[in-house]
Amino acid sequence: PWSEIRAQEIITAHRHMDGATMPILHAVQEAFGFVPDLVVPLIAENLNLSRAEVHGVVTFYHDFRREPAGRHVIKLCAAEACQSMGADKLTRYAEERLGIEMGETSADGRVTLEPIYCLGLCACAPSAMIDGRLVGRLDEETIDELVAETNR
Ligand code: FES
Repeated sequence: PWSEIRAQEIITAHRHMDGATMPILHAVQEAFGFVPDLVVPLIAENLNLSRAEVHGVVTFYHDFRREPAGRHVIKLCAAEACQSMGADKLTRYAEERLGIEMGETSADGRVTLEPIYCLGLCACAPSAMIDGRLVGRLDEETIDELVAETNR
């Protein structure tokens, strides 16, 4: 669980750096697994920035999670090579099978579905990643397997 005291320690350790916002956000995410909304005003106050500026950074970068992730994380590549190989259609299929939309976590905390922008596996597009493992040549059958994996 996140704690304000721990967050303040992280901020204090990084606040002297130039452009401290990013290193702080990365360290916060590493410590808590996500960037809690309540950390935003804390960072703003410490760095003398507006809340809107800090919030803008959190939402601009896809790397930052705003809620804890599910037990399994499926990332579907949404970049060009995968798009041209039908990633969109497979994304819709995965959303339907999991009952959640891209960027969401299932209500039971079982799985998070997220876009990612190129996994370096373009030659085997469309590509995905489940819990850090790369999967290429996605089709509906592979998606079914990934969905089954989240039930284990
Ligand atoms: Fe999807 Fe490169 S575009 S892996």
